[in-house]
Amino acid sequence: MSVQYKFPEGFWWGSATSATQMEGAANAGGKGKNIWDHWYEVEPNRFFEGVGPESTSDFYYRYKEDIQLMKEIGHNTFRLSISWSRLIPGGRGEVNQEAVKFYNHVIDELLANGVEPFVNLYHFDMPFELQEEGGWESRSVVDAYAAYAKEAFHLFGDRVSKWFTFNEPIVPVEGGYLYDFHYPNVVDGRRAVQVAFHTMVAHAKAVEIFRTCDISEGKIGIILNLTPSYPRSQNPADLRASQIADLFFNRSFLDPAVLGEYPEELIEILREHGQLPMTENGDRELIKANTADILGVNYYQPRRVKAKEHLPNPYGPFMPDWFFDNYEMPGRKMNPYRGWEIYEKGIYDIMINLKENYGNIESFISENGMGVQNEERFLEDGEIQDDYRIDFIREHLKWLHQAIQEGCNAKGYHLWTFMDNWSWMNAYKNRYGFFSVDVKTKERTPKKSAHWIKEVSERNGF
Ligand code: BG6
Repeated sequence: MSVQYKFPEGFWWGSATSATQMEGAANAGGKGKNIWDHWYEVEPNRFFEGVGPESTSDFYYRYKEDIQLMKEIGHNTFRLSISWSRLIPGGRGEVNQEAVKFYNHVIDELLANGVEPFVNLYHFDMPFELQEEGGWESRSVVDAYAAYAKEAFHLFGDRVSKWFTFNEPIVPVEGGYLYDFHYPNVVDGRRAVQVAFHTMVAHAKAVEIFRTCDISEGKIGIILNLTPSYPRSQNPADLRASQIADLFFNRSFLDPAVLGEYPEELIEILREHGQLPMTENGDRELIKANTADILGVNYYQPRRVKAKEHLPNPYGPFMPDWFFDNYEMPGRKMNPYRGWEIYEKGIYDIMINLKENYGNIESFISENGMGVQNEERFLEDGEIQDDYRIDFIREHLKWLHQAIQEGCNAKGYHLWTFMDNWSWMNAYKNRYGFFSVDVKTKERTPKKSAHWIKEVSERNGF
């Protein structure tokens, strides 16, 4: 069979997940409490069907079996995150040796099976004690994070060369400080800005430390959910609204992480509205000097934007929503099982933007995927027949391939996710994996897409 879409040699085929979402053992192995454990304790009804972070696929106990499955479907890379509260219960101080053992075993097992670990340090999971100290609003938490990062580099940097400081750092800002879908459920634009800024300082500190460690061929970066903004029309008001959405939701992290500077326009908007964060001497230089080597791009859906129809409430809290409205473009293609728009070309637009405006930084698709509710309805002959997911991946890959043909520096594609996992407030509502998991028995079963990706990875194309 000929391969029409051939990817460059050494292309990274794999998938991504995070500690809280797959490890399980939330109260075992010496792990401390994180904000998810706490939130579930106090408000279990906020979680889909009341299912909390203890109910995962139990990678903590089953990682060997899972790594064999990764190998079987042709993965050469896999992204996982370290749980901060597992490695350092309480967030600072003594390292938990049981956690060191666990992560060592996982890393060694991955390497022994030809799967390169991509390790992320923070995927929404603040140790609870540090949240009590103010979480990302607090400068002392930034220092605790830097110490944690240093510990992780020293413990695992002899074998792990791809490191990421944060996954989607804007999501805890949105969820925790603007729109009430993460703990601590604050709705306050000014505090959100402070959290965003401190996260970026924490990122830069970790990068700075990384560069003093002797990690051979090591690269460090960040994973951002980039959501290209498309204006409703070429009318100047719509164009402006779309630019502002881009400033808040993409460039607020992309510019400082890759270019080392915040967009002047974003600073102006914040200054004009009295929302600038507190900073310390040297922060600007720190961010400037410690830009990312590599960028992970999570892409799910575009943002359709139009000019504001109603003036903002001048007495309400400062919100990005003051400046633009999202809108549903008529005729757009939808994922009927999750309610998100599917716009495959978005992946190409992101890559071209990185090439033209961000020095063509080395990048890869670190998450892309199709969530499906009640996926068991597609069960036939003992396997989920997820042809819709195969189409989804294939069509996105075509655009990624096109971007690479045009000189974009994209090195790989990771699906979200390897195996259906627990997902924050949505718990098991939306399934994304190459494998399904029976939440009770923990039995893993490949979906049709697992067989498909095996072929694609082995042929390095399709
Ligand atoms: C990504 C996150 O943005 O979306 C994951 O990095 C999350 O952690 C995924 O699980 C899917 O989210 P949801 O809400 O559709 O389950």
